Amino acid sequence: MSIHLLGRNTFGDVANTGNLMPIEEAHQLLNEWVPNDRLRLHMKQVAAVMKAWAIEKEQADELTARKWELAGLLHDADWEKYPDDHCRVIVEELERRNIDPEVIHCIASHGPQYFGVEPNNIMDKMIYVFDELSGFIHASALIRPTKYDGMDVKSILKKLKTPSFAAQVNRDDITDAIARINTPLEDIIQFIIDHQKDVQ
Ligand SMILES: [Fe+2]
Repeated sequence: MSIHLLGRNTFGDVANTGNLMPIEEAHQLLNEWVPNDRLRLHMKQVAAVMKAWAIEKEQADELTARKWELAGLLHDADWEKYPDDHCRVIVEELERRNIDPEVIHCIASHGPQYFGVEPNNIMDKMIYVFDELSGFIHASALIRPTKYDGMDVKSILKKLKTPSFAAQVNRDDITDAIARINTPLEDIIQFIIDHQKDVQ
């Protein structure tokens, strides 16, 4: 990924706190903006893992879980159509739609060294943790005859240490993201496998 600094650290309007779009509308936006099935699946997988983490690990209420899900679902929405302006376009679109500022900040901080926005809260930190790892684990599943069935954490750890495998996945990003949370990499990998394997 190339550098697309957003040049600011505040996003949206606090007056819009709690204002989300219906999940059907988010899917519609994805269908319009992201013709690539595989990229759409990536966002659905990150959304599923984000929502599950919010509910299972952060005891999130329904609205909060929906925020995590929405951020996951839209975080790369502009990547395919606006590769030179990735992140800015979706952030500005969500501001125009008066979406909750925490959701917009979460999307803006999903790659701190690319967009120049530091993850603040646990939602921000987890999207950063899940994004690259989710894609990496899915790439690993695709080359296995049984896909996710029988996939174990060890094989993923081994592939992470093999630079030629899914070489576009930046291992430094994963290391940096994991260093910001209190959960070991192994547990994160298992959580992702469990929660994205059935996403379609
Ligand atoms: Fe992503």
